Amino acid sequence: MNAATVDERYNDTVVRQFTLMTVVWGIVGMAVGVLIAAQLYWPALTEGISWLSYGRLRPLHTNAVVFAFGGCALMATSFYVVQRTCHARLFSDRLASFVFWGWQAVILSAAVSLPLGLTQGKEYAELEWPIDILITLVWVAYAVVFFGTLVRRRVKHIYVANWFYASFIVAVALLHVVNNLALPVSWLKSYSVYTGAVDAMAQWWYGHNAVGFFLTAGFLGMMYYFVPKQAGRPVYSYRLSIVHFWALIAIYMWAGPHHLQYTALPDWAQSLGMVFSLILLAPSWGGAINGVMTLSGAWHKLRTDPIIKFLIVSLSFYMIATFEGPMMSIKTVNSLSHYTDWTVGHVHAGALGWVAMISLGAVYAMWPRLLGLQTMHSVKLIDLHFWIHTIGVVFYIASMWIAGVMQGLMWRATNADGTLTYSFVESLAATYPYYLIRFLGGVLVLLGMGVMAWNIWLTWRAAHSTQDMAVLPVVTQH
Ligand code: HEM
Ligand code: HEM
Repeated sequence: MNAATVDERYNDTVVRQFTLMTVVWGIVGMAVGVLIAAQLYWPALTEGISWLSYGRLRPLHTNAVVFAFGGCALMATSFYVVQRTCHARLFSDRLASFVFWGWQAVILSAAVSLPLGLTQGKEYAELEWPIDILITLVWVAYAVVFFGTLVRRRVKHIYVANWFYASFIVAVALLHVVNNLALPVSWLKSYSVYTGAVDAMAQWWYGHNAVGFFLTAGFLGMMYYFVPKQAGRPVYSYRLSIVHFWALIAIYMWAGPHHLQYTALPDWAQSLGMVFSLILLAPSWGGAINGVMTLSGAWHKLRTDPIIKFLIVSLSFYMIATFEGPMMSIKTVNSLSHYTDWTVGHVHAGALGWVAMISLGAVYAMWPRLLGLQTMHSVKLIDLHFWIHTIGVVFYIASMWIAGVMQGLMWRATNADGTLTYSFVESLAATYPYYLIRFLGGVLVLLGMGVMAWNIWLTWRAAHSTQDMAVLPVVTQH
């Protein structure tokens, strides 16, 4: 079957577009990550160039990796999965195309406005109000295409992966609208309707659920489709997947205050956030175990199939991040970890380990099929990517864990007379070598993305030369 015949049944054009842009934005976002990691080691690297300053590039990095790379991966896979599990073509080709081009316009607006220093100043919600309105329009179109396809399904059942994608789409709509309510004072400037502690609470209700629904629920949808598919086995426990779904979405919403421990937030709200974070360990691990155990009876594939390696190792990082998170939410632990690089290590265990690896595995699984082929051009290159990426992630997170705990301990150390043992600059000097290790880890991860881009290109070329050959006999007969 070639790409053309596949396209008659499903709209795979938009899936191909989003998949390609996942790789492109992955490279861009991670390159900016490497640049800011370099700036932390060589602080004068881009001195004097305002739009390349750390404060402007950091939000560019987070927006590019979370919303451009992660967002394109989520849109590509959700459109791929919903069509195949519903046995139906996307609800509307034109609307799907609007979702693609609209989302790219959002990304480009971010890529221009953030380096110019235009920002709402809310982490992960930096984009100014006109872009927020565009996001809302694109998101509504996305929801119509996704839910419209569910309605058109030719099977009675709604497969569990779609439940996770659906919750991600609904929750992100709610979070985006509520947290971005603002009063515009010009085309490029607005002020949040919230003030003080309420503003902080709304922001971290948003921020935490962006983790829960953008960086987790949608990717769990990916897990529930691609792990069984690649393993060639059904989900370990379908019943567990339903419990997993309801428990996860019910608990995530309440855990946001763990970002605001020891702040002006009422104490009971901080404790509530901590308790719900601790409870969150159960559904997170339950879901991850459900994914990993799907491999039972097919463990040997871990040796031979690098895509399975990406998927299963991503689940291991998910388990690490979702064990670490509840621990960090405990107030006494948070008093050590907050403001340190431990948080950054935790973030990247989730982001580079879980989110990136499950996405890369899914892209490798989808890309050849989207082109009418069985496998990627080079399985060896997938394996190489897997190892470079994994080593890079370990460099990154291990260095940040050590640096973070060290910083926390240095900042709280006191002498017998009550004075601080270390000045801040001493803690910075002690952190210095770890920033170099993190930078090297980032370089490895970026190199891995280069290997992927090369393989994606070779596979595309192979698909097109096969199609040319398929046409050849027809041409010679005439
Ligand atoms: C059971 C699940 C999880 C819990 C309870 C949890 C808990 C926490 C806690 C306590 C913090 C530190 C807050 C602070 O001191 O400022 C944090 C930060 C963070 N976590 Fe998690 N985490 C979980 C899973 C994840 C996952 C899977 C990801 C990524 C995919 C993630 C991404 C983040 C991010 C981005 C931040 C930094 C937010 C910021 O300050 O900008 N978390 N998390
Ligand atoms: C080559 C890979 C990457 C490198 C070198 C890198 C580097 C960095 C650096 C240096 C920071 C700033 C830390 C600080 O301010 O102290 C950062 C922050 C962040 N990165 Fe990355 N990153 C990479 C990939 C990713 C990916 C793939 C994601 C998400 C899918 C991600 C999500 C984030 C987030 C959410 C933050 C903010 C963390 C916080 O506020 O605590 N990064 N990254």
